[in-house]
Amino acid sequence: MIKLHGLHFDEFISEDKLKQAIEEVANKINEDYDGKEPLFLVVLNGAFKFATELLSRFNGDCEIEFLKLSSYDGTSSTGEVMTHIPIDADLEDREVIIIEDIVDSGNTIEKLTEMMVSGGVKNYRFASLFFKPEAYSKEYKIHYVGLEIPNDFIVGYGLDYNGLGRNLNAIYKLKNTKMTNLVLFGPPGAGKGTQASFLKEKYNLIHISTGDVFRYNIKNATELGMLAKSYMDKGQLVPDTVTIDMLSAEVDKNADANGFIFDGFPRTIAQAEALDTLLSDKNTQVSAMIALEVDDEILVQRLLERGKTSGRKDDADETVIRKRIKVYYDETAILKGYYQKQDKYFGVDGVGEVTEITARLSKTIDTL
Ligand code: IMP
Ligand code: MG
Repeated sequence: MIKLHGLHFDEFISEDKLKQAIEEVANKINEDYDGKEPLFLVVLNGAFKFATELLSRFNGDCEIEFLKLSSYDGTSSTGEVMTHIPIDADLEDREVIIIEDIVDSGNTIEKLTEMMVSGGVKNYRFASLFFKPEAYSKEYKIHYVGLEIPNDFIVGYGLDYNGLGRNLNAIYKLKNTKMTNLVLFGPPGAGKGTQASFLKEKYNLIHISTGDVFRYNIKNATELGMLAKSYMDKGQLVPDTVTIDMLSAEVDKNADANGFIFDGFPRTIAQAEALDTLLSDKNTQVSAMIALEVDDEILVQRLLERGKTSGRKDDADETVIRKRIKVYYDETAILKGYYQKQDKYFGVDGVGEVTEITARLSKTIDTL
């Protein structure tokens, strides 16, 4: 297993198998272009390694030119193909073989086809080391394919993930870790903290409480902590971007985890969207928003009871307690809608024995 930018990849295709596939493509091209003098167009960056291996096996005379295109951002195609280095060769009447690393959606192939047609070539063919038939949505023929692969994200042998991995001599596939990521909600006094600690143990999850993350970063004077503090010292709210960066660092620190319990975050739609982006960058997602439901009157009684021993001022005053509960419902209502739309909202009855409530939560989590 290897790790690039916090993502895990497992070895998928060995160097030997790649060389064998390239050998077969080279044999076919040697047959088809016997006595001809083709122009090979290498599509940078990804195809450099395949091109080197393939061309070293080409028997005849040929010209080799390069162009650079890009359409990928992270682990998915953007749909827009950009030219970074244009073709610097006269294509008129040439027999062209375009060397690609991988054909995915086919957007790049479409762009290249337009280039060939407008360049007035005699004929052209595509040679690609990899082809993802399930992702391909075009009709253009790919004449030479090294290996057909499933619709998974791969790196190595020229292919990259955000710039890394091109130097690897084998192909690695993105590990499909199905994480359980919970957004845990509950009004003050619902027993969120207690339940979070049980769930964390039971499912081997990392509990990320925004409050704790803030305190940790500030106490250890991390760059982000100092930044957050500078806002707090001025009496301003810490911007979402700073909070998200802290959470992101926390998730990165635990890339091997089975999942996370997010506690105290998100509080707004903007934060929920930022959390979605953060997790999707790490090839995972929010599994569920789980809200502990407890009747207001029970909450008030529980908190007043707690106030007798906890020494917390905000637990002693019934008006303050009711206000805190109201703030919770105002916030939650919005997020409930956000996650309900994605079928990810689960309300769980939070009244009863602690173990009983844990059992109810587990029942929900086990269905995810
Ligand atoms: P298409 O335009 O969607 O067919 O994508 C083609 C380009 O996307 C390739 O030349 C690669 O640069 C990139 N790409 C597609 N799939 C992968 C992958 O699994 N790993 C790394 N890069 C990929
Ligand atoms: Mg490419």
